[in-house]
Amino acid sequence: MSFPADFLDELRSRIRISEVVGKKLKLIKRGREFLALCPFHNDSKPSLSVVDEKNFYHCFACGAHGDIIKFTMETEGLNFVESVDKLANLAGLEVPKQDPIERAKEARRRTLREVLDEVTIYFEEFLRKAPTKAGLDYLKERGLSDKTIKSFRLGLAPANSKTFRMDMQGRGIEEKLLEEAGLIKKSAASSSTYDYFRGRLIFPISDRRGQIIGFGGRALNNQEPKYLNSPETSLFQKGQILYQGQMTGEIAHKTNQLIVVEGYMDVISLAEVGMSNAVAPLGTALTEGQIRELWKFSTEPIICFDGDSAGMRAAVRACDRLLPMLEPGFSARFASLPPGEDPDDIVRRGGANKFRELLESSTGLSDFFWETEQSNGSLDTPEKQAAFFKRIRKRVGEIKNQTVREAYKDSIEAKIINFRASMRAVTSGMAGPYYGHSRSNPYKSIRSSISNKAARVNITQIMERRQKQAILAAFLMHPSLVEDFGEALGYLELGDPFLDKLRLDILDIHADGESVNAQYLKRRLFERGYTDNFEGVLEDKALAHIAFAGPGVAIQKARDGVRELLSRIGKYQLEEQIALATNAVMDDLNEVNWNRLSSLRAALVSVNGGSNLEDPV
Ligand code: UTP
Ligand code: MN
Repeated sequence: MSFPADFLDELRSRIRISEVVGKKLKLIKRGREFLALCPFHNDSKPSLSVVDEKNFYHCFACGAHGDIIKFTMETEGLNFVESVDKLANLAGLEVPKQDPIERAKEARRRTLREVLDEVTIYFEEFLRKAPTKAGLDYLKERGLSDKTIKSFRLGLAPANSKTFRMDMQGRGIEEKLLEEAGLIKKSAASSSTYDYFRGRLIFPISDRRGQIIGFGGRALNNQEPKYLNSPETSLFQKGQILYQGQMTGEIAHKTNQLIVVEGYMDVISLAEVGMSNAVAPLGTALTEGQIRELWKFSTEPIICFDGDSAGMRAAVRACDRLLPMLEPGFSARFASLPPGEDPDDIVRRGGANKFRELLESSTGLSDFFWETEQSNGSLDTPEKQAAFFKRIRKRVGEIKNQTVREAYKDSIEAKIINFRASMRAVTSGMAGPYYGHSRSNPYKSIRSSISNKAARVNITQIMERRQKQAILAAFLMHPSLVEDFGEALGYLELGDPFLDKLRLDILDIHADGESVNAQYLKRRLFERGYTDNFEGVLEDKALAHIAFAGPGVAIQKARDGVRELLSRIGKYQLEEQIALATNAVMDDLNEVNWNRLSSLRAALVSVNGGSNLEDPV
């Protein structure tokens, strides 16, 4: 009994080989592959290599080689059909019935493919020999070179509602097949047929083997809908396919970066400026199948949807879809675009570099999740804050993988602590005596509009920056604090280019090994171009808010204060890094990974000891 090739492809693409092998053998991650002790011979060192992108395993010692099906057959003593059954079950796929009708359909699909190939060439040719140059002119106007037009195989459909069908007839292609491919339609009123794509630019869409399976058609004028896609056919299932999935996969694998955009034109414009590592869903929300597809090419695809509310909503939906599916090491990032712009606009105006900048400032999924949940309503009362904590904890429970769920729990609890600390800083610090005497309190107007979310964020940001400045001020005044907190300071990203540079310079000067006192440290920093008050870090006004950072404060008090602040703003960063470092050690226990984990732990202990922060709520 044989299965349709399509079905087996689908099966292989739904399940990662590492998932199947990992159930039987302990896998050690090495870059893009996994190593394991080979079960097919008496292996003394891990010689079995398992590569997800290629979907195979290979033993360098005994030459055993195969895919998920072969592995299941060989390790479970099942025959081919039983193995496929078992894997299909795991993938949630229905095993196709092998009756004669199915076989006939399969044969038909092959013919359908041939028709789609021929039609693609027809549209490509028509773009260049159409009576009007409107199609080609339009593409040129949008900045596409001939090379790009050819490589994406863009085409044009004739405007007349019968031309296409007649031309196909002339080539001896059965009308029935054209109908099955969704290229011609029966009109509802009469029994006559008409061409589905008329006067539209044609974007061929291929499956993961590069075979054309359907088309997107863009109107050349303001006709609605702007894009018309082939109807779903036995070959074309929108939810399972990504635009340019196949071509991009190989490139993304090489560059280790995969970008997900909303539109066909975004994918193409990016390729035009040399970024051929973008894919797009087909005008629908990202499906689970598409996410699995993305993860085959990149562990952290960057989702980069349009900078309008629809794009933002789509990104949130993608995050919702991803959350339950997260697995150790597999996540996503989110890039945000300026309001009203899509990736095509960005590269046309600012080139690839501008777009790369946006990618670089993308947000990891856990932060994106936190931020979007947080912005999901106002948080101006304790009750609302409590409801927010409750909601976000509940959502973390959606994560199916236990290891990831636990890591998320830790990270969310840390974020909640941090959030509460900054709320406390806002309410107590601002309302405290410090501001009482000031007649022109600059924050008064902000406070009075504290229910306004933007303002609330401002206060939090101002307070956080002030705390960060205070930490550095304390190190400037008491350089010996580096002995206590050097490691923590090394790992703590302050998220501000100036403050981070100062932080690293302070550590760097200490690393020279000489004994460092305050005067010496400042002198060395001045040599590196810093000015007197370090852009406000040593400004009296700023220092006055943080008692321990003032000049002449005893070292013990400064130490406690720094510990408290480092713990407040750095603890969750450290915990996150420890979680990552722990994973790295579990994947590959080597000296570098181990040392990193040890020193991160030491950093966390140094800031935790004596902290008077409350326990997690
Ligand atoms: P956009 O409207 O953002 O398209 O829709 P775009 O790619 O930026 O197109 P240009 O720049 O105006 O030419 C994003 C995607 O949504 C789907 C298409 O897949 C499109 O690429 N879409 C959009 C439809 O399926 N139908 C529509 O009517 C509009
Ligand atoms: Mn666009």
